[in-house]
Amino acid sequence: MQVNLNGLELVGELSQWFTPDWLAERIGRAVRQHFTGTPRILEPTAGDGALVAGLIAAGFPVECITAVETDPRLCRVLRERFPGLEVVCMQAQLLDPALRFDVVVGNTPYENGQDVEFANLALRYAPVAYLVVRSELLQMVSFHEDVLSHAEVTWEARCVGRPSFRGAQSKSGKKTGSGLFEVTVARLRGLALPKVENVETCSIPVEYWRKPTKT
Ligand SMILES: C[S@@+](CC[C@H](N)C(=O)[O-])C[C@H]1O[C@@H](n2cnc3c(N)ncnc32)[C@H](O)[C@@H]1O
Repeated sequence: MQVNLNGLELVGELSQWFTPDWLAERIGRAVRQHFTGTPRILEPTAGDGALVAGLIAAGFPVECITAVETDPRLCRVLRERFPGLEVVCMQAQLLDPALRFDVVVGNTPYENGQDVEFANLALRYAPVAYLVVRSELLQMVSFHEDVLSHAEVTWEARCVGRPSFRGAQSKSGKKTGSGLFEVTVARLRGLALPKVENVETCSIPVEYWRKPTKT
């Protein structure tokens, strides 16, 4: 579904570029494979709801999703687009630390190491998180020291090439932001959970992630 943002000027500093629908739908389906029923799902930086739409398309009821977004204009878009969705208009870092979810699904700002911060944040609220991250993050020392000291990557799917994100424009009209990164969808699992035998760590065949070609 294409969303009309009514001429909203998207803010590069807030990393306002959005997951393409085809990728969001595949992430929704990947989450669905591991979560049946109605888990409590947190989308911590929801934007205009690309991942929310992907989750709903995969069969999750809107009522089981909580969407956090700091920009009140996008919160309005979320409320209009998804009646029944719980929309929390605030910085995700200020969420009540007592809240608990079954799973976090997010594509957060990457810039200045924010993806490391958000990965940690995700695992404070849920034992499992599906995050779209810069592919290079998985090799970075800071990620290993800060996140993988208390979590493990149990599944990862590298996107082929760089998906074309919808998003912020600079004043000159040129697209800016993290569409420049190659990304991987990683499922993180907190090590506070009892370790399971035979943890699934696999790469998804690239075809699965390729943008479907129009026929
Ligand atoms: C990279 S976009 C991704 C949006 C959406 N998750 C998606 O996949 O299309 C990041 C979003 O996070 C919002 N954001 C930035 N900092 C935030 C914060 N501290 N707390 C909550 N939302 C934030 C931005 O306004 C933007 O809409």
